[in-house]
Amino acid sequence: MIDFKRTHDCGTLTKKYIGKTVRLSGWVHRRRDHGGLIFIDLRDRFGLTQLIFDPTVCSNAHNDAQNLRSEWVITAKGKVRSRGEGLTNPKLHTGEIEIEVLELTILSRAKTPPFSIADETIEVSEELRLKYRFLDIRRGPILNNLIVRSKAMQVTRRFLDSQGFLEISTPILAKTTPEGARDYLVPSRIYPGNFYALPQSPQIFKQILMVSGMDKYFQIAPCFRDENLRADRQPEFTQIDIELSFETQDPLFRTIEELMQMIFKDTIDADVSSPFKRMEYKECIEKYGTDKPDLRFDMPLTRLDDLIERSEFTILKDQLSTGGCVKALTLKGGAKLSRRQIDELVAFVRPFQLQGLAWMKRTDEGFTSNIVKFFSEDLLNELGSKVEAESGDLILIAAEKESIVNQALDHLRRHLARAFNLIQPNDYQFLWVTDFPMFKLDETTNMIESEHHPFTSPHFDDMDKIDSDPLSVRALAYDLVLNGYEIASGSQRIHDGGLQQKIFHILRMSEEDIQEKFSFFINALSYGTPPHLGIALGLDRIIMILSNTENIRDVIAFPKTQKASDLMLQSPSHAANDQLRELDIALEPSQITWV
Ligand code: AMO
Repeated sequence: MIDFKRTHDCGTLTKKYIGKTVRLSGWVHRRRDHGGLIFIDLRDRFGLTQLIFDPTVCSNAHNDAQNLRSEWVITAKGKVRSRGEGLTNPKLHTGEIEIEVLELTILSRAKTPPFSIADETIEVSEELRLKYRFLDIRRGPILNNLIVRSKAMQVTRRFLDSQGFLEISTPILAKTTPEGARDYLVPSRIYPGNFYALPQSPQIFKQILMVSGMDKYFQIAPCFRDENLRADRQPEFTQIDIELSFETQDPLFRTIEELMQMIFKDTIDADVSSPFKRMEYKECIEKYGTDKPDLRFDMPLTRLDDLIERSEFTILKDQLSTGGCVKALTLKGGAKLSRRQIDELVAFVRPFQLQGLAWMKRTDEGFTSNIVKFFSEDLLNELGSKVEAESGDLILIAAEKESIVNQALDHLRRHLARAFNLIQPNDYQFLWVTDFPMFKLDETTNMIESEHHPFTSPHFDDMDKIDSDPLSVRALAYDLVLNGYEIASGSQRIHDGGLQQKIFHILRMSEEDIQEKFSFFINALSYGTPPHLGIALGLDRIIMILSNTENIRDVIAFPKTQKASDLMLQSPSHAANDQLRELDIALEPSQITWV
């Protein structure tokens, strides 16, 4: 039996161990030959330790070390000694010592990796990294993100347990959930023609657990959504899912704020101040054009409808008379931008359906641009103070349908912040956005849909408008936004079966549909349901921010590509004919595609 049991890992040994005999096991990170001596950096997930093979100390080990290649797995026994004068490495915890090897055993050999593990600076395509994810994880960045993720999950469990929450697992083989995406379906063998749906979230289960009297529930829950993917979306992702009874919004917000403070402290040692800012949805859209504003930089949007009405600027006035709006933002110090740079900003907004941007510079000489002529001196000064433009600033003005102006200026605002380095590193700006609308109108189908999900309670002050003017009804729904990402979402729930039925009807769900999808749920609500509310935090997005990456795949051990495939597993893949036969599924050969 080969002895590979370590006395220490590769990130531990320091000067205080000098003279001790130790055994380390790990991967060959780098090998260097120097005048008869061989140096190996030995790596495991805890760190690196330098091994030194001296032919005068142990010729056998030295001979074997000559054959070692990157990524071979070895075990070495030796003596800890001080590194020579001037040879220490202050960047490494183990940088003051090395191990003089007395015994070496090769535990396994490795093929030459398709990319360097030791040199993280070499650019490797993401496709190749995903295909060889097991090697990618060995490299530092992904490993560090997974360590942050693990810590965040442990803190979450510790904290919620200390607050009296029970961790309860809910089914993965489930039934459709109304979170607005397509379901992933799993065919049933025992009931041919029937399908389970993988949960888009544990929403229905957690509400039923409140009916069961569980009072305070949480789960670190896998969720599955077949939707269009983006840099912050995966088809399979994880929520910290929470529900509690007999509580209201404020205590829940405090609990989540405390949880976030602990996660940030224990993972990246960042101090987050609380309480978090709050803003109603309506004000948020007015001020930032989006319900997930990045507050690491100022630069609000200012409505100019009234002021433009009093100007001679007919092109913008025409937009107002056809139901549009005019909004502006001010780029501090932007007056120094060249004409070409401003033209680039105009080109930037075009893909968002905004035809153009009007602009003015404010300088010591006053306002300059080709649109200044449409404004009186007084009006210009009024505009300047309204948009808080001082000398040296640039004012950018957009006029169009309100949704287009909001979308374009939101993108422009974020673009300017990046382009002009307005974001301080390690700045974490949380915002609660509250009072979301209860419903929205789908512009293509002209149908009313839930803005959050159909179990959300209408705002108590708006109950009387549910039938007469549903689109003006606010919901008791909230999001938590961090640095421009929606990191959590939740609501007070409906706990009255009658009101729940009514909401289904407003959503134009037929009685048949309600029965088919939710009869069990409405039935459960009718057996004594406590008032309850909850929230789900997007764990992956939180880890992205903690890990300082904009790519959600960097914080998931085995992620899917933008096209929902797993390049390492080569999944999805074809099912064998006998498996399909068992499931009573027949495929048209013409419909089969290859991933
Ligand atoms: P919602 O659908 O808003 O709410 O999801 C909650 C949070 O989960 C994260 N999230 C995602 N993260 C990665 N990839 C995705 N595809 C993805 N979709 C959502 C976001 C989001 O804020 N049941 C409700 C919550 C509740 O009401 O309690 C729900 O799932 O960070």
